Amino acid sequence: MKVLIYRTAQEAKTQAAHRILSAVHREPEVVLGLATGGTMEGVYAALVAGSRQHDTSWAKVTTFNLDEYWGISPDDPASYRRYMNHHLFYHIDIDLSQTHVPLADGADPQKAAQAYDAVIREVGGIDLQLLGIGVNGHIGFNEPTSSLSSRTRLKTLTQSTREANRRFFRTIDEVPKYALTVGIGTILEASECLLVATGDNKAAAVWSMIEGAVSAACPASALQMHAQVTVMLDAAAAKDLKLRSYYQLVHPDGQESALNDV
Ligand code: F6R
Repeated sequence: MKVLIYRTAQEAKTQAAHRILSAVHREPEVVLGLATGGTMEGVYAALVAGSRQHDTSWAKVTTFNLDEYWGISPDDPASYRRYMNHHLFYHIDIDLSQTHVPLADGADPQKAAQAYDAVIREVGGIDLQLLGIGVNGHIGFNEPTSSLSSRTRLKTLTQSTREANRRFFRTIDEVPKYALTVGIGTILEASECLLVATGDNKAAAVWSMIEGAVSAACPASALQMHAQVTVMLDAAAAKDLKLRSYYQLVHPDGQESALNDV
């Protein structure tokens, strides 16, 4: 894992956006895996600003979001489809028909999940997967004890996740109990993963992901098995890392490499 530690949350998010923009410029037909949540709002704001600044064309980009609350229609204000439209898609020239969010308002979650995996396969898989991490170590909505080779499926959300996402709803009772989520097996098949975590409430999960044992108890730890993972942190999220000074030595202040100084 490449661990990049930035001084501020804003810097971590801006640098993550910069990497995604570079991928779009390098490969206009890139297939991106996207996440939602509070952390990603800053990443998408920086992406929109960067796209305007560099006149980036997203016309040929395809996207797949990680998850959607089960029982929520795409028009629902709390849906991840609405989130993506408002934070990113409406501000860039992407073809909306090339943007995919799991359809979670049908009757058959298994059918919807299999259909989602099939479309990912049809386009040849995900080139760059953007990820956040939950305070309990989840990626997507793969909650602790998820199979590390899981595929898209319905997951029951933990109480901790429902409480963490309560801010997007009026009451805790309105927070859905289930979500369709891309599985860890699919995430691990992406050519490259980019995980962004900021704030000291993520420090314990970040430690488990990077320095803990590979275990379904911390689903994000499965990323240790992937050869191309970059983790972008602010100082607060990195505070529990035992090898923090080593990561800083290799990548001072999140720079790509200190090798140039050798
Ligand atoms: C949602 C997703 C989740 C979030 C995680 C962190 O699409 O992928 O894994 O990334 O719950 O959310 P925030 O940034 O709100 O703390």
